[in-house]
Amino acid sequence: MKKIKLLRSLILVPVLLLIAVSCTEEKTGTSAGQTDILKDVSTGASIYEDKCLKCHGANGQGGICPNLVDGEWKYGGTDEDIYKSIAEGRPGGMPNWDKELGKDKINSLVAYIRSLGTS
Ligand code: HEC
Repeated sequence: MKKIKLLRSLILVPVLLLIAVSCTEEKTGTSAGQTDILKDVSTGASIYEDKCLKCHGANGQGGICPNLVDGEWKYGGTDEDIYKSIAEGRPGGMPNWDKELGKDKINSLVAYIRSLGTS
């Protein structure tokens, strides 16, 4: 049983990474350091699952909270805007995360949200 589980995650991880690469490639081209983006996106994905999914839903589609992948932004959709939404929070019920997560982790969340969305 254990072996099968291990095997599955060994297969799943590269596949997920591949998907992440192909998505970011489409949006940002290949000029930005690809391995950096890849690292950010996968780190961001696990932080997202841990901290954000319960409100924003799997894959950022919203739920009780705003959709993060439809390209519509209440507070703006540039990297800086999204960073600010996460770091400082927003009045309608979005907590602030700068103390808990810090700059690097928030940046990887921004990369992850970008990799998901149409923005
Ligand atoms: C307790 C529920 C909750 C959690 C947890 C949460 N959010 Fe939010 N988030 C909200 C709400 C509610 C809003 C809308 C705030 C408003 O409209 O003023 C929001 C807004 C946002 C926005 C701005 C959306 C826009 O349209 O401009 C972003 C980006 C965002 N959240 C990202 C995240 C990320 C990344 C995390 C994980 C670190 C996270 N949120 C965790 C509830 C949450």
